[in-house]
Amino acid sequence: MATVTFLGHSCFEVRDGDTNIIIDPFLSGNPVAQAKPEDIHADWVLVTHGHGDHWGDTETIARANDATVICCFELANYAQSKGLKAHPLHIGGGHDFDFGRVQLTVAHHGTGGDEGGLTYTGDAAGVLLTVGGRTIYHAGDTALTYDMKLLGEFHRVDLAILPIGDNFTMGIDDAVRATSFVKPRTVVPMHFNTFDLIAADPAEFARKVREDTEAEPVVLGVGDSLEI
Ligand code: NI
Ligand code: MN
Repeated sequence: MATVTFLGHSCFEVRDGDTNIIIDPFLSGNPVAQAKPEDIHADWVLVTHGHGDHWGDTETIARANDATVICCFELANYAQSKGLKAHPLHIGGGHDFDFGRVQLTVAHHGTGGDEGGLTYTGDAAGVLLTVGGRTIYHAGDTALTYDMKLLGEFHRVDLAILPIGDNFTMGIDDAVRATSFVKPRTVVPMHFNTFDLIAADPAEFARKVREDTEAEPVVLGVGDSLEI
């Protein structure tokens, strides 16, 4: 069992007993976030890529909690350059941690941190996280890709978390196609309605998921949790 809480945009907290993981902790400057970085107690910070709306408050949270940042090699180097503890992975690679397993998945997207996104921070990734006996796919920012079919073929994904906001990532229709590729038990939309440019109707996504896939769509409001 694991408890997954939506903190806004692409930020999710995953709890299993004493394990507390935060993914893409963009809270400061996030117009929809309610939590503040100092509210977060996390042992692990998973970051999909270096863009500011994903890296977010990683430095503050990791430092305050003595947490380890788990991400792509180049972004891990960036984290270490800030004095943070980091575990580097790369696309396709996984590692068994004491709480479970993290594997980075293909994401078609850019990266870049600091200086308006010009600092090289490696590849954008998604995350396949197994914790509490449950497998969660957080897609990060990505286009629809046929690689997602591999996840559906070779993993039992309990929860897929997919961007639906269009413009920078998949929009609703491609996210529904991604759901049919990944075949998760439950699917949760993210990366929408934070800014005008990524406005999308999660109810439309949920309706289309019900029509076209076997997955159960769950639309989380900011602060809402889901047991998986
Ligand atoms: Ni991005
Ligand atoms: Mn983004």
